[in-house]
Amino acid sequence: MVPKITTLSGYLHEYQKSVANPTGFWANIAETFYWHKKWDKILEWDFHNPKVEWFKGGKLNITENIFERNLFLRGEQKAIIWEPNDPNEAIREFTYNELFVEVQKFANVLKKHGVRKGDRVALYMPMIPELSIAMLACARIGAIHSIVFAGFSAKALAERIIDAEAKVVITADGGYRAHKVLRLKDVVDEALTQCPTISSNIVVKRTGGEVVWNEGVDYWWHDEMEGMEEVAPAEILDAEDPLFILYTSGSTGRPKGVLHTVGGYMIYTAYTFRNVFQYSSGDVFFCAADIGWITGHSYIVYGPLLEGAISVMFEGIPTYPDAGRYWDIIRKHEVNQFYTSPTAIRSLIAEGQEWVQDVNLPSLRVLGTVGEPINEEAWHWYHDHVGDNRCPIVDTWWQTETGGIMISAIAGVIPTKPAFASLPLPGIQPLIVDSEGNKLCGKGVQGNLCIKFPWPGMARSHWGDHKRYVESYFSQYKGLYFTGDGVKRDEDGYYRILGRMDDVINVSGHRLGTAEIENAINEHPLVSESAVVGFPHAIKGQGIYAYVVCTSIPKNAEEELKNSIKIGVSKMISPIARPDQIQFVNGLPKTRSGKIMRRILKKIAAKSTDYGDISTLTNPEIVEEIIEGNHKLIK
Ligand code: WT7
Repeated sequence: MVPKITTLSGYLHEYQKSVANPTGFWANIAETFYWHKKWDKILEWDFHNPKVEWFKGGKLNITENIFERNLFLRGEQKAIIWEPNDPNEAIREFTYNELFVEVQKFANVLKKHGVRKGDRVALYMPMIPELSIAMLACARIGAIHSIVFAGFSAKALAERIIDAEAKVVITADGGYRAHKVLRLKDVVDEALTQCPTISSNIVVKRTGGEVVWNEGVDYWWHDEMEGMEEVAPAEILDAEDPLFILYTSGSTGRPKGVLHTVGGYMIYTAYTFRNVFQYSSGDVFFCAADIGWITGHSYIVYGPLLEGAISVMFEGIPTYPDAGRYWDIIRKHEVNQFYTSPTAIRSLIAEGQEWVQDVNLPSLRVLGTVGEPINEEAWHWYHDHVGDNRCPIVDTWWQTETGGIMISAIAGVIPTKPAFASLPLPGIQPLIVDSEGNKLCGKGVQGNLCIKFPWPGMARSHWGDHKRYVESYFSQYKGLYFTGDGVKRDEDGYYRILGRMDDVINVSGHRLGTAEIENAINEHPLVSESAVVGFPHAIKGQGIYAYVVCTSIPKNAEEELKNSIKIGVSKMISPIARPDQIQFVNGLPKTRSGKIMRRILKKIAAKSTDYGDISTLTNPEIVEEIIEGNHKLIK
């Protein structure tokens, strides 16, 4: 197991060590894992000509570190506790031994379908144990999983399958979400009409709903698993071989396939899991995210299972059947650490005080949040009512690209402050720069958050597009990884994340590129141009505000047109990307070089009155008109 920091002086000591000698620091942690062969070199890196390699030449398999390494001590201990959407349905539990058997069997199924080391497998699945089993089975045989959140549209799924050139897709007939049944296989069927690289679609029977069956492509999971050989030897990989691709939004164009590699990601998720949440053997850890996002990859599956933890996986949503669902789960499974998002907390606050009034959750020791800045009100509510004033909150800042938590308190070790992610974890060297790239030293400064030294969990590339990786993170400030976030460091040296500085919006902790949404809006036959910005939203953190220029608007059909634009976006991307507000405008404020001045549009959407300098616009008169239109919008 990785070393655990337990005191503030211990943290300061480790941090210092990690900066003075980063390679020695991480090599010590890497030693605690199981390697077939030790690495040739701890670290090779260059942030100017971006390239990062950790533990190159080291040979391993991450699933051997989850299973073979843990079985002797914990074979009969629970690994996953699965809580269904409907609380009346039976829970499913897997010990490490049981999970290992399922993973190996499914690894053999994948092999039978021709999947080999380096091949890509797309997963479009509900939150059921088979999702974890499938991803670990990929890892077992060295296949690269690409999980696509099951809320994405057929078009978005197809785009991701095509980009990764996936060979096999795994899905379910359907999924449950509160009262709703999601017909997942239909979405996959539609996507597959455009995906020539897919030879097999393996389908878990979850809802028993009717499905269209395509002979020769579709296979039932249970048929394939039936009588399958229970042993699948681990494929021995290099530390720098890919583990998975996870698509996320950037400030421009189509989603990018963030690539993580085996060795560094393994060490980083295990280390951050153990330390941030102060996990002790036998604790029950509950991360309420979906495995379709990086939080679920790192803190439902890989981090916890590497550390031999008991991980709760929840299929449903916090308000079904009622707003007490999380507390019921925490009570039922005696959860010790609970990890969720500020949006979930705000949506529960909105459900009313009665759901937390007498809630008594004595098993809880640590609370965590992730995905977006947490406002002080939500922080206090979480702290006082859920944590009963005694559980530390770890506000964990990180990104899909960072692989694991970067800036966060260590529970009970680093004192917390509401709305502050607090201090960098050992091995993480943040640097704040101004817009010209000048280093802002000392305390009480505000600027752009960069990281100046590599850490093992960082993304190595974008799938098939290293150039875009370089442009996305290393082109803004020479020799630094730029996170895209604004940050403030206060008098105590504590970090407060201010939100994205680029054209990315964070809606309920989901990351969306404004360009992506604009492209979807512009597909509408009556739309000629659009500009999308985020605006403050009481529950979602940020909402989506779209300024739309139409070629014509049919008389008295404004609302209808807005609806059809919204439906279009849901179909092209996902309901998550559906604009909250659409304002029809006659033009967009543009600079002389033809660039849309989003700064002004953001201000108008936020109902701010200080628009700054508009003298460089070619069409300053449009601003007044847009402001007027904004005032008239019905909320
Ligand atoms: C962006 C990354 C990391 C898993 C979920 C999101 C924002 C993330 C925090 C936090 C303030 C946060 C940042 C970041 N963010 N955590 N604790 N406080 N902002 O992953 O989709 O890759 O988004 O989420 O803006 O850049 P992601």
